[in-house]
Amino acid sequence: MNILITGACGHIGSYLVENLHKIKKVKKAFLIDNLESNRLDTLFNYKKKNKIEFFKRDLTDPKSLKGFKNINLVIHLASMTNAAKSFKLRKEMYSNNLNSFKTVINFCKKNRVKLIHVSTTSVYTKNTSLVDENCEKKYLKPQSPYAKIKLIEEKILKNLGKKLKYNTFRLGTIAGVSKGIRFHTAVNNFCLSVALGESIKVYKTALHQFRPYLSLGDVFKLFKFTIEKNFYENDIYNVVSNNYTVYEIIKKIRKYRKNIKISNVYSPIMNHLSYHVSKKKLSAKGLYLNSNLDRDIANTLNLFKNIK
Ligand SMILES: NC(=O)c1ccc[n+]([C@@H]2O[C@H](COP(=O)([O-])OP(=O)(O)OC[C@H]3O[C@@H](n4cnc5c(N)ncnc54)[C@H](O)[C@@H]3O)[C@@H](O)[C@H]2O)c1
Repeated sequence: MNILITGACGHIGSYLVENLHKIKKVKKAFLIDNLESNRLDTLFNYKKKNKIEFFKRDLTDPKSLKGFKNINLVIHLASMTNAAKSFKLRKEMYSNNLNSFKTVINFCKKNRVKLIHVSTTSVYTKNTSLVDENCEKKYLKPQSPYAKIKLIEEKILKNLGKKLKYNTFRLGTIAGVSKGIRFHTAVNNFCLSVALGESIKVYKTALHQFRPYLSLGDVFKLFKFTIEKNFYENDIYNVVSNNYTVYEIIKKIRKYRKNIKISNVYSPIMNHLSYHVSKKKLSAKGLYLNSNLDRDIANTLNLFKNIK
């Protein structure tokens, strides 16, 4: 089959492309990115056997996917993704992410192409217990513009009914190393701070709150599973390796680096209370994810091993 990957130069996209040869069903991949993230280096030295072709396209242009033929699946990863900065970039983010999304779904509808749509577990709001995909609406109150946009995308897909075959995957916060690694998400950001000898900045009150995390390796398993099992049910699934508190994450980092300083910071998204995100629904479909993130943390810290 032929697939088209948007946002291919990003943190997740570059990991997927690097490992694509492990999905035998994929014969060719067309990679799309507008290179706004400036991660040209992700395109260097890809393994030849992946059979990939790169196209610089901005998906906010409704015609940007014109001319792509014989595509069976789109994995849509292109987005502006910094949740904390999305408060200041609200307008740009709404415009970029929703217009890109529209280009993708119009392409999929017109050409009968399946879609893997990624959302975020940040669509859930404060809750002291477990949240799952069927939770009451009152628990779906995303705090950041970034997560609000994801919820809008989910609704647009739901309203399309059977016009499109897709799954929406609500991903936990990603941890792990790829060519396009970013450091604005929690685990990677903590590792960066430790490597630079700076204090880990924790949102005030967040130290003992649970959050859902997801190893890059587990995201790849998700894509492989979806493609190999033809898993498109027009439904929403949480995708989580495990739920941890910030304190537990810091304890994991401490296994590799002993001297860690912690300081409290304010953030507009810190008023989330503790929540566990259930992964039962996906497990029941046969995909059980359970990375403890130790390897992701070790690999991330290892990137800085020669820096004093
Ligand atoms: N990383 C996480 O922790 C996390 C968690 C939950 C969900 N997600 C979602 O997974 C997807 C991929 O995340 P990521 O971490 O790889 O993000 P990323 O920011 O590393 O990569 C996104 C890529 O999309 C490209 N892009 C942005 N706008 C574009 C446009 N208009 N046209 C073409 N390309 C465009 C950027 O240049 C970038 O290379 C996003 O939808 C994100 O919201 C990520």
